[in-house]
Amino acid sequence: MHGTFDKNIRKDGASAPFYLPQADECDLFEAAHDNNLPLLLKGPTGCGKTRFVSHMAAKLGKKLYTVACHDDLSAADLIGRYLLKGGETVWVDGPLTRAVREGAICYLDEVVEARKDVTVVLHPLTDDRRILPIDRTGEELEAAPGFMLVASYNPGYQNILKTLKPSTRQRFLAMEFNFPAFDEEVQIVMQESGIGKDRAALLVRLAGKLRALKGQDLEEGISTRLIVYAATMIEKGMPVERAVQSAMIEPLTDDEDVKLGLNDLVAAVIG
Ligand SMILES: Nc1ncnc2c1ncn2[C@@H]1O[C@H](COP(=O)(O)OP(=O)(O)O)[C@@H](O)[C@H]1O
Ligand SMILES: [Mg+2]
Repeated sequence: MHGTFDKNIRKDGASAPFYLPQADECDLFEAAHDNNLPLLLKGPTGCGKTRFVSHMAAKLGKKLYTVACHDDLSAADLIGRYLLKGGETVWVDGPLTRAVREGAICYLDEVVEARKDVTVVLHPLTDDRRILPIDRTGEELEAAPGFMLVASYNPGYQNILKTLKPSTRQRFLAMEFNFPAFDEEVQIVMQESGIGKDRAALLVRLAGKLRALKGQDLEEGISTRLIVYAATMIEKGMPVERAVQSAMIEPLTDDEDVKLGLNDLVAAVIG
């Protein structure tokens, strides 16, 4: 069966999570993987970064360890720690260590949220040494073949403190993500929610208008995720206006004046 491997099918036969490519990102991911290079995904929240990684992991038949980073996440959370088990202390690998040992993919979602000591452990892993020093056990782990580090972050937040240092970011291949083009986003919303084409197109058109307000009234453009939420609820029988209100207006702002303005916009688009 040489060369007949269907790329949409996992090597173990299960199908990969649905992901509609926007450009050549699947090829770039695969090339990064094949060449042992770490990859950084930049882009606004809810535009498909996490879905892309789970899709690619499945497509390549790889095990995926996903870590949602937060401001309390420390190097030990990634690497592992000694735990008390039945009166004995045993070492327990963290997700990064497991991925390094098994040659799996480790995905650090929103990596800039993590504590500073986390980036330090990434450095020896992201140059050609590909090692993970585990201070607590004295072990110096060499990454198994196939190990890949993927990280994502949202450069849009107006928070200068939360950005990656050049010394860290210049160790990754990087790729910019954005909201899908109109036709693609309509297709995604249909696929994810089961809604019909006309109504999906209406919601995506509305999202386009809301995104145009970014930087004026809204900090961030509305995500594909929220359009899918609205479509899902409409498909389940919720009135369009209520679904749009709860999925496409309320999550965007707390400012009453801004909300009024957004409602006018909704009325103009949906009628
Ligand atoms: N290209 C795409 N193909 C399929 N689904 C997508 C795509 N882009 C966005 N989505 C939808 O948007 C949702 C949010 O995407 P996600 O990957 O969680 O965003 P991010 O990680 O960028 O915040 C997904 O659950 C999926 O329903
Ligand atoms: Mg994500």
